[in-house]
Amino acid sequence: MSANPIVTGGAGFIGSALVRALLDAGAKRVSVIDNLASGKRENLAGVAERVDLHEVDIRDAGALKPLIKRGATVYHLAAIPSVPRSITDPNPSHEVNINGTFNVLSAARDAGARRVVYAASSSAYGDTEVLPKTESMRPAPLSPYAAQKLMGEYYCSVFHSCFGLETVSLRFFNVFGPRQDPNSPYSGVLSIFMKCVLAGTPPTIFGDGEQSRDFTYVEDVAELVMRAAEAEGVQGRVFNAGNGNRYTLNETWRLLCDIHGAAIQPRYGPPRAGDVRDSQADVTAAVRDLGHAPRFSFEEGLRRTLAWYAEAERTA
Ligand code: UD1
Repeated sequence: MSANPIVTGGAGFIGSALVRALLDAGAKRVSVIDNLASGKRENLAGVAERVDLHEVDIRDAGALKPLIKRGATVYHLAAIPSVPRSITDPNPSHEVNINGTFNVLSAARDAGARRVVYAASSSAYGDTEVLPKTESMRPAPLSPYAAQKLMGEYYCSVFHSCFGLETVSLRFFNVFGPRQDPNSPYSGVLSIFMKCVLAGTPPTIFGDGEQSRDFTYVEDVAELVMRAAEAEGVQGRVFNAGNGNRYTLNETWRLLCDIHGAAIQPRYGPPRAGDVRDSQADVTAAVRDLGHAPRFSFEEGLRRTLAWYAEAERTA
């Protein structure tokens, strides 16, 4: 019998979507490692009976080690995923994103795991002169978070070259969708936009709103992550995990208002430290080598996400 897949951060927004996708794709059970710092049990509602949830912090190497099983595929998504938090409070981000990643890779190596798929970040690119951003560009992190996520990639590649552990790193580009928590000062911008449009209140846009992002729907990311676990000849490599488009925050807010039938002017605040100006993925390598095939246009993703938030508010 093959080992159950393991998802670190599996009670989080992206992790719980991946858990659902793995179960839909035929996994009998999924093992989740999550300290529930930002993850939540309710994110696994409806699938909890097929999930083994281990409330363990990846900084705790001793507790982590026995949970990683021989032959298992490990999806390493646990992180403190915020650019501004890594600036205001860099220590925990460093410990989770770098030391925690090292612990996951070490445990995977020691156990003889089959492969580790790592959630890297497009923030590693920083501001590039050219768009879209391709994997061959030189990384130029602008925040501790970006540096930490890049270090995780380097560790993945070195665990492959030095120890023979199969790893694949995916640079996520602004993932959005159902279950993204809008209630923290570090929440992703689209979750905040969703909350505002439903409440009829203006969001605060940091800067002029002309910064752009390649917003990627969470189900497309989950699908790509699973492809990365199976693809041949990609061990040790790094791939963009984006949609290939980019939208400014101003365009995005307008689009969301149009979808909802609202007309609300945003507020503007000072630009945020550590922010990348523009972000857009070249997905050529992911399409060619991983079979990446995003199914959701930005607008369709926004519609689905808005419907989910509206329903969550209705039933709260
Ligand atoms: C996001 C992810 C990060 C991921 C990266 C990949 C989150 C919280 N962060 O970082 O984990 O690795 O993409 O590229 O999902 N903004 C506002 N108003 C707000 C909140 C944000 O204007 O209320 C702006 C920010 O200043 C920034 C943009 O929206 O310009 C996106 O910010 P954010 O959603 O925090 O994501 P990233 O920093 O791009």
